[in-house]
Amino acid sequence: MDQRGVILIVDDQPAGRKSMASALFPSEYRLVFAINGQDGLRKAVTLDPVLILMNPRMETLDGFNVCRLVRGNSALREVPILLVTSDDDHDAQRQGIEAGADGYIVKPFDRSEVRARIRTIIRLNRFRKVQDDVDLLHRAEEEVTRHRQQLETLSRRLLQAQEEERRAIARELHDEVGQILTVLKINLVLTQREIRDAIDPRLLSESIDLVDRLIGQVRDLWRNLRPSLLDELGLPAALHALAESAAKRAGVDLELHADPDAERLDPDREITCYRVVQESLTNIIRHARARCVRIALTQSEAYLHLSIIDDGIGFDVEEALSSTSASSHMGLLGMRERLSLVGGSLNIQSRLGQGTQIRMSLPLRGTVVLGKEERNREFIQLNESHE
Ligand SMILES: Nc1ncnc2c1ncn2[C@@H]1O[C@H](COP(=O)(O)OP(=O)(O)O)[C@@H](O)[C@H]1O
Ligand SMILES: [Mg+2]
Repeated sequence: MDQRGVILIVDDQPAGRKSMASALFPSEYRLVFAINGQDGLRKAVTLDPVLILMNPRMETLDGFNVCRLVRGNSALREVPILLVTSDDDHDAQRQGIEAGADGYIVKPFDRSEVRARIRTIIRLNRFRKVQDDVDLLHRAEEEVTRHRQQLETLSRRLLQAQEEERRAIARELHDEVGQILTVLKINLVLTQREIRDAIDPRLLSESIDLVDRLIGQVRDLWRNLRPSLLDELGLPAALHALAESAAKRAGVDLELHADPDAERLDPDREITCYRVVQESLTNIIRHARARCVRIALTQSEAYLHLSIIDDGIGFDVEEALSSTSASSHMGLLGMRERLSLVGGSLNIQSRLGQGTQIRMSLPLRGTVVLGKEERNREFIQLNESHE
């Protein structure tokens, strides 16, 4: 098929068509002829020409009306139109421009001038189309940036709301449920003393044990929901408590190094670190089958560094983070999201059979406005996840 752009020549006079053809031939464009205004319009619609060359003075549908119809058609609006007028027909030249033509060439033609004119107008139009595409791309980019910012704000609010909700539930558990259980236990102990002989003592002992377990569970629950130690004593102390309870639950050898004199961070950063360690430990208990876990919290001049290393079964990081499994496994993705909101970065390396290393760092101070490059950087390096 002929891939060349089409120049549509519209003239109801055979002599006119012929003189235009001879001026343009041979051409890098395909010349198509229309024998009147209607024919011109029909061919313009089907051929989408790069240029229309037209005699304005035609019978029935004249060139001025064709101009207006082309400009009114959304598909053809941008096609350049040059009118071919006689030298002294100033009225046609004026009317043509008013009707939407881009210019005119006058007969008799200077062949090379006409060809240059045509080439220029077609190139300019092509350039304008490219420019339009670039503008469109810029607008789309801006839109994407705006949406990403909205999403970020939304995530941040969501995490804040989640923390506030947790704090409220934790308070409720501690103040209400905890108090009631404690009073219940005291009552049971007193009752046990009072009516030692009347009922089976094992029944009461069992009830007291149950209440004890319940108190322990409720305590774990409110500590997990809102680590009040974090607010009161800071990150190292809260992480010690967290690690201790995890080690007890999982029966692993757990070592934690955290500088107790490290400076305090703002609450957002502290809770971020706490939740990352919490999620990592939960994962280790649930998935890793590790014997040994090492956690280290250090501060450099401007950054806080945290590493959580286990000697468990390891996993395929890329697969765990792939979008298909993302809906069910939100732990790692949540860690990444939390960290990115405080300008931090996360690096997970895992080898099957050899354990997992999670390292994160985040800036100690300052509101973090991520630059373009920073955003584009992968927060998680997906390497070394295979044996
Ligand atoms: N320390 C780890 N050791 C072994 N496997 C892990 C570890 N951490 C995460 N994983 C794997 O990565 C998957 C995704 O973890 P996560 O996003 O926290 O989801 P979930 O814990 O709900 O399954 C887990 O299902 C598990 O297979
Ligand atoms: Mg998890």
